[in-house]
Amino acid sequence: MTEIPEHLLKRSRERRGDLAGSGSQGSADSGTGDAPTAQPTTPASVPAKAAPAEVAQAAPPAPVAPYNAAAAARPKIPWWAAGTLVLLPIWAIAYVGTLERPPQEVTGVLATGDHVYAARCASCHGATGGGGSGHALSDGEVLVTFPTPAEHIVWVAVGSDGVGLGNRYGDAARGRVVEGGMPAWGSVLTTEELIGVVLHERARLSGSDADLALAEAIDHASHAGELDLSGHLYPATVTVDEVTELLESAAHDLDSQLAAG
Ligand code: HEC
Repeated sequence: MTEIPEHLLKRSRERRGDLAGSGSQGSADSGTGDAPTAQPTTPASVPAKAAPAEVAQAAPPAPVAPYNAAAAARPKIPWWAAGTLVLLPIWAIAYVGTLERPPQEVTGVLATGDHVYAARCASCHGATGGGGSGHALSDGEVLVTFPTPAEHIVWVAVGSDGVGLGNRYGDAARGRVVEGGMPAWGSVLTTEELIGVVLHERARLSGSDADLALAEAIDHASHAGELDLSGHLYPATVTVDEVTELLESAAHDLDSQLAAG
């Protein structure tokens, strides 16, 4: 077939002669022995050589860059910034003070209601009750729908499904009909949270003084151990009468105080 040119054969012979001269067993097991033994030794030897090289590189201290040297030599606080820095803690304390609401407004059942409203209701009814996918609750709106807190509490406990699509809810004069979309909160919130969020909507968002007084009476009664609000008002059992009774028992203290005074 094709003849191998003489000069290539000569070069091949020379190479083989080189290999035989350099390694003692090179020609003996050239077919199988060479490759497996040669390959494992090279990868193992590479990291072994590389590791000392890295250490050697890291060992000498890095030369200090001119800008670092300048920063180290420069005075730490420029004279013109000193005044601002002295005032900074005073400003920080004053700023933190503005983040907190007046303490007398955030205690007891209304404080609980405030938190619950922000977490559970604001997404649909607006942060200050201005309305959204749910009705507006501010500016007396919710007081028109629910003239008494008991009905309001029952509505929030049972939600749209509890009253039933197409049924009336709230004061007849308001003419509300269930269109759907209001969740039931009776088994989600504790009685305290439920009453708290309703009184928050009435007293804080809609400015009802009567409900502010009721919240005070409830705090009074629960602190005195006369009222346990830790359980739940279950949608299946809650009635307006039961809730009215609960609120009246809480308000009893206040009523007697008002009657006496
Ligand atoms: C997923 C949205 C959504 C959330 C969350 C929500 N609501 Fe509602 N809410 C509605 C809708 C929708 C209606 C009207 C229901 C209907 O027509 O069936 C409504 C109606 C009301 C009403 C009656 C207002 C009126 O004038 O008719 C009150 C009170 C109310 N919600 C209070 C609350 C409270 C309290 C919470 C939180 C514990 C809350 N809602 C959370 C959507 C929501």
